[in-house]
Formats: sequence, structure tokens, C-alpha cells
Amino acid sequence: MSFRAADPKRPSLFYLEMHLSDRCNLNCRSCSHYSPLFQKNAPHPSLRAFKKDLSRLASLFSDVGKIRLMGGEPLLNPKAHKFLPVARKSFPNTDLRLVTNGLLVPTMNRATVESIRNNEVTVDVSNYPPTSEKKDEIKAFFEANGITYNFKTNRVVTTFFKPFALRLDNADFSYECPSAGFCVNLRNGKLAKCPMLMHVNTLNAHFGMHFPTEGLIDIYENEITGDEILVRLGKKVALCEQCVNVRAPWEAYGKSVPQISDWVVDADSAQ
Ligand SMILES: C[S@@+](CC[C@H](N)C(=O)[O-])C[C@H]1O[C@@H](n2cnc3c(N)ncnc32)[C@H](O)[C@@H]1O
Ligand code: SF4
Ligand code: SF4
Repeated sequence: MSFRAADPKRPSLFYLEMHLSDRCNLNCRSCSHYSPLFQKNAPHPSLRAFKKDLSRLASLFSDVGKIRLMGGEPLLNPKAHKFLPVARKSFPNTDLRLVTNGLLVPTMNRATVESIRNNEVTVDVSNYPPTSEKKDEIKAFFEANGITYNFKTNRVVTTFFKPFALRLDNADFSYECPSAGFCVNLRNGKLAKCPMLMHVNTLNAHFGMHFPTEGLIDIYENEITGDEILVRLGKKVALCEQCVNVRAPWEAYGKSVPQISDWVVDADSAQ
């Protein structure tokens, strides 16, 4: 890995998430990236746009502390292996991660295995109950293939948060950012403070809702700087006013269908 000298003109961005796929093979209730709402044949993000956006980001920021490539389930993208070197070349010093629910790890193809190793990627596995059932197989695959991974096998996910509320007068609601500001997302030239904002138009379109969408930052805006982006990322957006941190048991949809109440704690009161 090469090391780039710190650049006094470009600040460092602490954290970044990007999707390699919007869809998912598990479909958890209340997924904060709304993956269960994406069609099974939704096109995968474009490699060309991914490359262009990271190149632009590298002109604005000297480094990104951690980049987590995810989705959706990133291993559903058959070209996942082509995205990893692009991220690594754009930010040679970053802590590069591939975030997965683990279920497809044992069937990962050779190109992906090699790309993970060659680009010094750590695989973060979220330990859902179905993942936990396959934990030995998943770990054995990583170990046999020399892949660095982070898989907290003793901590199974049991709850997920429901992100939003319609009413803002309920004393039980906490308005603290449930992501603590550590979930900046980049897609098609726009940065969002969090995935809920980046993809909220998907929730709006699916259920006919009107959650506020403003607050995306155009990284191609004329004369924008990394410092200006950091200032804007630090500000609350309108959606934050409706964001709550209410936890519910983790569940996968299976044959059931997503409901608005999976994302909105007081959806029933509005009907
Ligand atoms: C959206 S997933 C994408 C990657 C992969 N499909 C996975 O689940 O690891 C990225 C991370 O967001 C977390 N996440 C998604 N929705 C959540 C929710 N409603 N509450 C808590 N964590 C959530 C997941 O557990 C995972 O660690
Ligand atoms: S595994 Fe669950 S959290 Fe991850 S993208 Fe799929 S639905 Fe969302
Ligand atoms: S909407 Fe605002 S408060 Fe909620 S997770 Fe996103 S940035 Fe945090």
C-alpha cells in the first residue's frame, strides 16, 4: 500500500458508505437502507459513477478514515470485485471494508476473494440469526482464503431501530441521531448525512409518504471545498426532526410484505 502525505489544503473525511447493490437476499424489517423496498431486478450502482464520484471526492479530501462498501447486500453484485480496487486507488490509506450479512460468503467467487485480498479489504459480517446459523462455514471460508474479517459471533443482532415518527410531540421520542453522525453516504455525485436521508425518496415513493428529502450535498457544486462539505455535514437536516431511536425485535420479512409501520413508529395514528 502506498502512503499519501497529509495535504494541508484538503481536510480528511472521517467516514463514508457506498452501495454496491441496493437489493438484499435477507430483507430485514426496518432496514435503514430500505433494501426490502427495492425491486429484485433493480439495476446495481454504476461502476463508472462510483469511480467518477470517488475521484472527485479525492480532489476535495486528502483521506477518508473508513470506507464501508455495502448496500443492500454487496455480494449480490457480480461485479463487486471491480469496485474494490477503485476505492483502494482513490484513497490508498483508508480502512476499506465490505459489509455483508454473510449468507453468500461461502459461495463467493474467486475474483471477489482475490480482489478482497489484493485491495486489503476487511469483511465486516453482521451477525443476524440466519447468519449465526452458518457462522462456522463463513469463518472457515475466510480462514481458508486468507481473508481478514470482523465477525462478532458471540453477539447476534436481536433488535433493529425504526427510524421515523410522524408526530413530534411524544415524550418517549429521543431526537438524538441514532447513527451518531457516523454514516455519511455517497451516491451519484451527492453526499447525505446518513442512508435514511440518501434513500428516503424510495420510502416516500413506495408508501406515498412525504418525508423531507432536502440536505443532499452536490460534490460537483461550483467552488465547493472539503471544509465547506464538513460544515454542511455537521448541520441537522429537516429529516432529523422526524428521526427517532425506537428499537424493535429484529426480523426478516420471509413471505410477509413490508409495511410503512416498519419504518414509522406512529404510522397507525396517521391512517
Ligand atoms: C444496511 S446493512 C448493509 C450491509 C449488509 N446487508 C448487512 O446487513 O450487513 C449495513 C449495516 O446497517 C445495519 N442496519 C440496517 N438497518 C438497521 C436498523 N434498522 N437498525 C440497526 N441497524 C441497522 C445493519 O445491521 C448493518 O450492520
Ligand atoms: S441484510 Fe438486512 S440490514 Fe443488510 S441490507 Fe439486507 S435488509 Fe438491510
Ligand atoms: S436523519 Fe438525521 S438524526 Fe436521523 S440518522 Fe440521519 S442524520 Fe441522524
